[in-house]
Amino acid sequence: MVEHLIERNRHWSAARQSEDPTYFSRLAKGQTPEYFWIGCCDSRVPANVVAGLDAGEVFVHRNVANVVHSADVNLLSALEFAVDALHIRKIIICGHYGCGGVKAAMEDMPHGLADHWLAPVRRLARRRAADLDQAPDARGRRDRLAELNVAEGVRRVSETPILQRAWARGEPVAVHGLIYGLSDGRLRDLGCTVSLADQTPEAAQ
Ligand code: CO
Repeated sequence: MVEHLIERNRHWSAARQSEDPTYFSRLAKGQTPEYFWIGCCDSRVPANVVAGLDAGEVFVHRNVANVVHSADVNLLSALEFAVDALHIRKIIICGHYGCGGVKAAMEDMPHGLADHWLAPVRRLARRRAADLDQAPDARGRRDRLAELNVAEGVRRVSETPILQRAWARGEPVAVHGLIYGLSDGRLRDLGCTVSLADQTPEAAQ
């Protein structure tokens, strides 16, 4: 099985090299990605593919159900590197409809370690029960929770000292919330962006 992957890689690498002879030497010099993407592990939502971006264009962190835990050292390390070292100005939290992690967070059955990981999503579902009950069916409730989970992630990332320090320095970093539709391949802006403009004293009033 691994031989098969290595063989595919050999073909891909040769094809890239022949299309663009400096492709790998250029990338080897360093990365200057424009976006930092926080998404779900789901194999159907690969950041580069769904956003139409090439290698080197998006810095990526993925976890089950794209949860932003305020003390997740993995996510925070990637976020700090993205903002402070790579000077990325566009941070995207991307959820997706039909998310298995979000579904698990709404179920009354044990899922092992995932239950611990998904606890914030479960709490969010309880807190926003009235909103979720507006949906016509169980699938609608899950998809609405996927959206709320993205908005919650945007808020949590915005509250980190990493973003607060960047904004205090006047850096125009923005945190956007997007949702991806598995059935139509489209990304939608959830309209919950937090940017430097929201951090001014006037905005806080
Ligand atoms: Co998912």
